Amino acid sequence: MEIETATLDFIKTIQSLNTIVEIDAEKSKFLGKNGILTKEFKKLSVLNTEEKVMFGKKLNTIKNQVEEVINNQIKLVKKLELDKKLKEENVDITLPINKEFGSLHILSNEIRRIKNEYKAKGFLILDGPEVETEFFNFDALNIPKYHPARQSQDTFYIEDFDETLLRTQTSCVQIRAMQEKQLPLRMISIGKTYRNDQLDATHSPMFHQIEGLVVDNNPINIGNLKDELSKFVAFVFEVDSVLLRFRPSFFPFTEPSMEVDCCYSKENGNIKINKNGDKWLELGGAGMVHPNVFRACGITTEPYGFAFGFGLERLVMLKYGINDIRSLYDTDIRLLRHYKSILIN
Ligand code: PHE
Repeated sequence: MEIETATLDFIKTIQSLNTIVEIDAEKSKFLGKNGILTKEFKKLSVLNTEEKVMFGKKLNTIKNQVEEVINNQIKLVKKLELDKKLKEENVDITLPINKEFGSLHILSNEIRRIKNEYKAKGFLILDGPEVETEFFNFDALNIPKYHPARQSQDTFYIEDFDETLLRTQTSCVQIRAMQEKQLPLRMISIGKTYRNDQLDATHSPMFHQIEGLVVDNNPINIGNLKDELSKFVAFVFEVDSVLLRFRPSFFPFTEPSMEVDCCYSKENGNIKINKNGDKWLELGGAGMVHPNVFRACGITTEPYGFAFGFGLERLVMLKYGINDIRSLYDTDIRLLRHYKSILIN
């Protein structure tokens, strides 16, 4: 067969194909090692110079033409395939929707509830960095370098960065707030804290703290602190009022310092916050801000202030009757499902 006729046939065939695989197979019959056109090229070697130029030109023209046809056909096939795919994957918006909506984690829910409440009460809601310096986490909080309180909180230090650590308490946000804001100051901060504790039912190397701070140039006393704490605990447990007990304690950044307990009773194995209860739950720490802390923040007016700090997980676990802290973090969807209805109501 004349090469011209074979070329026309080949072009026709290619243009009738609609898969890449078929095109490739057909292409090798014409342009492959033993392809029709390749064989024609081989004939060049036996021709004289003049014929060689003529015939060579002709073959090259055919080759270019054929390659263009092949490429165009490939483009066309790809476009058709894409159109088909798009059509098939078209979302049917008339299908019924999945009615199971997600819900907030109970920790997130509690964080939002407390923040909203305290924002409405006129407190600033502040955040601080989780990677802190020794100054904010210890020094400014009246915990000097060789103070034993540094050892009592097993700290994760950041390697290769001097005096840099994962904050062990949210009290550092107090310092940042007092350095930056004007008095009077009322703030709440909720965030992650880290201590080198083994993970077990009641300890986690990462947990959240809620920090409260009130500072004023006008007198504030321990009665104001007790009042604020009672309101805070009642709000968290969603009860009208609570009975708190204050035990003397020690924190370097507050003086006097105290441990806050809440009265409760046990009903059918469940904790019930109850002013007439016969048991006490340990909830957190509090106290009147130590003058050294004001000084470290550059405050010279000798103001009055109180601060408190609670572990969020502990509060949430008591509130919902959860007895293993790990269940708050192990991403078991059943926990969310279980508390969903409670949170929505
Ligand atoms: N930062 C203290 C702790 O982590 C709690 C605390 C906060 C105590 C504020 C008093 C005042 O244990």
